This record gives sequence, structure tokens and C-alpha cells, in this order.
Amino acid sequence: MAIRNIVQNGDPVLRKKCFEVENFDEKLNILLDDMKDTLIKSEGVGLAAPQIGVLRRIFLVKYEDFYFECINPKITEMKGKCVEQEGCLSVRGMYGEVERPTKITVEFYDRNGKYNKLKVSGFLARIFCHENDHLDGILYIDKAKNVGRA
Ligand code: CO
Repeated sequence: MAIRNIVQNGDPVLRKKCFEVENFDEKLNILLDDMKDTLIKSEGVGLAAPQIGVLRRIFLVKYEDFYFECINPKITEMKGKCVEQEGCLSVRGMYGEVERPTKITVEFYDRNGKYNKLKVSGFLARIFCHENDHLDGILYIDKAKNVGRA
């Protein structure tokens, strides 16, 4: 296990489009374990691979004591609209109000290459949308109506 450095806004790696994962191998397991350690250490609720400088379509979402490991995720359905505050481990000390869907369907693979399909709502849906944006080089501050210091 290892804690990776979280890159901050202004680093061009956060603005790149990530590549799909093709090999579900030991290297992927190490990356996922490191992402989990890094997320726990930073006390965040989600972390995307580009935030540790890895341009792969992977993110983690914390839900209570569980961590969803999402590989090659796709949000295939979105319903409703809701504006709430959010922040990002790569935009330290700032918060902003962002409109997100209230309910989503997300499809992804786990570390063993097993396909998953989930329907989530509320704050959890918000986290999935926020993390998914990271994979296309999008930060919440691009969408926020007003961004201010915490
Ligand atoms: Co973020």
C-alpha cells in the first residue's frame, strides 16, 4: 500500500481525457489499493485516477464504509436536477454549487473485470457524476455557479 500525491488544479494532467483500462492485472490491483489508501488518508468521498496523475478511466466512490471501485464507468441514465455544494481534493479549500442529476444509472467493471450496473440517487449520484467528469478532464469549478473559500 502507498499513499499517492493528489495533484492540484492548474496541473495539466487534470484536463486530459483518460484512456480505457484494457488489462485487469496485478498493476491495476496495486493502483486501486493505492487510490483507496490515498482516499482514506485525504478523508474524501471520491477519487479519480487522474487526480494521482494516472490517465485511466478509474474512480473510487466512498459509501459509508464501502468503496465502489469503478473501472471504465459510464453514466447511462440521468434523471432530475439538484443544486448542492461540492468540493474536490484537487481544488483544495474551495466549495461551489453545482447542478447534478438526482438519479443516475452507472455501469462499470470491478477489478476482476466483472460488470456492474447500479442505480443511485442523491449525494451518492452527485459523487459518481463528479468523479466521472474527472475522466474527461472536467472539474466541478467549470460547472459551479459560485465558487468560494470554505
Ligand atoms: Co474531484
